[in-house]
Amino acid sequence: MKRLSFAILPAVLFLTGCSSFKVLDPKGTVAELQLNLFQISIAIMLLVFFVVFSMFVYFTWKYRETPERRHVTPSNVKGNKKLEVTWTVIPILLLVILAVPTVKGTFSLAESDENSDNPLKIEVTGHQYWWEVHYPDQGITLTNEAYIPVDRPVVFQLKSDDVIHSFWMPRLGGKKDLLPGKTNTLTLNASEEGVYKGQCAELCGASHSYMRFQVQAVEESEFAQWIDQEKKKKAPDAVTTASEKGEKLFISKCLTCHAVSPSERSKGPNLSGMAGKERIGNVLPNTDENRKKWIRDPSSFKPDVNMPSFPDLTEEDLNALSTYLSQLE
Ligand code: CUA
Repeated sequence: MKRLSFAILPAVLFLTGCSSFKVLDPKGTVAELQLNLFQISIAIMLLVFFVVFSMFVYFTWKYRETPERRHVTPSNVKGNKKLEVTWTVIPILLLVILAVPTVKGTFSLAESDENSDNPLKIEVTGHQYWWEVHYPDQGITLTNEAYIPVDRPVVFQLKSDDVIHSFWMPRLGGKKDLLPGKTNTLTLNASEEGVYKGQCAELCGASHSYMRFQVQAVEESEFAQWIDQEKKKKAPDAVTTASEKGEKLFISKCLTCHAVSPSERSKGPNLSGMAGKERIGNVLPNTDENRKKWIRDPSSFKPDVNMPSFPDLTEEDLNALSTYLSQLE
């Protein structure tokens, strides 16, 4: 029993909101509709559970073995039409009660996909093990994060570069799979400003759990400002000697895979905004020491990562690269 409660506890904490995911506290139309359906099905399940379990306890007690009954053979009953009709009709009714709002909800979501007003398009590509977030109309590319305006539908176009991933932001609704060779769309909106956490919800390899992302919902005017600011960002000028050396090293070792300006796309994660990132690759806290450890051997922190290790870089090289990275605004 103790072991069981240890297994169930994380799920309960997760659902009730003792995590940043807060499944039961939706902040978008789609998530609200999904929570509503979830509550209806839970209510029906609880009703069935209590009725069946009460009957089970009652009959177990009523027909328990007693000294008088020990040698009595029960009569052999064959069929009971009334009972059989009852236990067929009740589940059908319960399924119909569940089906009506489910079908209605599914159609209303499909409609909102087609007729959304002034939607924002964002292409999300899943990679082992990071997310590329690309704004095709604005020409901006981010890694593991997105900005969206509140109260405006956002059409996420979901693609995969390798295996199946799944895009899930519990408080805004979802989730939908990212399949290689196919584009899926998911239309969501945020009804309140805030930071909404997301996670890959399909086991995609050794570092699946590190495929986290966040979506920041801001007012429309703030969103326009953010777009302007991102468009102006360019690769940084080498301002200090250390970062000049770092820039040269970066160009020779890292630039084939990593872009450093949001206006460019790259095979590996776009490193613009690295200075402000809380973690490196969603794993290590973004400190000077950790940046150096990461560059030397990323796969010891993020198993199965595509980035190669660089065991030949000297301490001086690593210092220069780390300084350069710390200046990527
Ligand atoms: Cu991507 Cu799990």
